[in-house]
Amino acid sequence: MYFNYFWLRDNCVTSWDSSTQERTFDILDESDDLHATSAWLDNESLDIIWSDGFESRYDLHWLERWHKGENHGDLAVRVRKTWYGDHYSDMARFNYDDVMLNPASVADWAEAMLDEGVALIQHMPNSDEGLKTLCELFGTVRPSFSGYTFDVKSKANPENLAYTSKALELHTDLPAEELAPGIQFLHCRVNDAQGGNSLFVDATAVANALKQQHPKYFKILTEYEVPYRYTTDYQDVRTKQRIIELDPNNGEVSGINFSQHLADVFDFSQREMDTFYPAFRKFGQMLQYSQYLMTFRLNAGECIVFDNHRIAHGRESFEKGSGARHLRGCYVDRGDLRSVYRVLRARYSKAKVTAPLQPSLEM
Ligand SMILES: [Fe+2]
Repeated sequence: MYFNYFWLRDNCVTSWDSSTQERTFDILDESDDLHATSAWLDNESLDIIWSDGFESRYDLHWLERWHKGENHGDLAVRVRKTWYGDHYSDMARFNYDDVMLNPASVADWAEAMLDEGVALIQHMPNSDEGLKTLCELFGTVRPSFSGYTFDVKSKANPENLAYTSKALELHTDLPAEELAPGIQFLHCRVNDAQGGNSLFVDATAVANALKQQHPKYFKILTEYEVPYRYTTDYQDVRTKQRIIELDPNNGEVSGINFSQHLADVFDFSQREMDTFYPAFRKFGQMLQYSQYLMTFRLNAGECIVFDNHRIAHGRESFEKGSGARHLRGCYVDRGDLRSVYRVLRARYSKAKVTAPLQPSLEM
């Protein structure tokens, strides 16, 4: 096996502070001709004496693992379980009190988020604090251009379609932000309105189907950088995103950025529009196919939590004036979710489910 001298010296076990696990060694200070003056094997170790006289010892299994590219291993790299329109009864469900008290349940919840991208938290307290404490199990609430939280209810002069009683077509939130929000929480505080069913789609299932049925369209949507923009009187937020995102770990579909509300004027050449629009339209149409569409009523006391890069969401229209309707939402980053999962799953094994979890309320 070949190992680079700088890499070896940089990763000597003495390079890290034993309490913080941060690297305290400075490879920049080493001379350009750093090399081993002698090296030998001692049982399960490789010993090296460096050109400056320093001695290092390496575990051979550790060296072998990194040589093979196995690195640290990552519990949070998991196989996504795609789901379809009939997922509602199978959707992972947890009680607020349980996740607040039991870290093993938080690990199970995080696992459901990584695998399926969606879970329902039930029996939430009817308070702003309830949502905040739930989010903080995964990480810090991260602001978006609407602030730390947002409220979805009808308004007199809405600046966003979400604040009206109109239907909301399937979308992911805020692709106009450079780092579009990762995990979205939508806490239903009141829902006495007629209509307004929630719509959720596992966009990885749809993108995989597009890849099979229309591989050219799929390729276009993984390559074109699409402009998104959000403006108010005092904001002009813009960025470009790929409609279909691929997982750098394995090249699989990891999510999407899709919002016709926030799509800016596409700025490809007009000839490229001939290529782009059929792909964009087909994918958007497929998102709406009933086989992928999970439709259900979100009830007061429930909080739906979903991966905003993977799950497209929308809403049927509701009858204005038919009853109060209020959802409060916020976001945490996906990196926070993965971090919590790595730590908790390493400590707590998966809880044994003793009885099937049932939806608490009728669809
Ligand atoms: Fe949304």
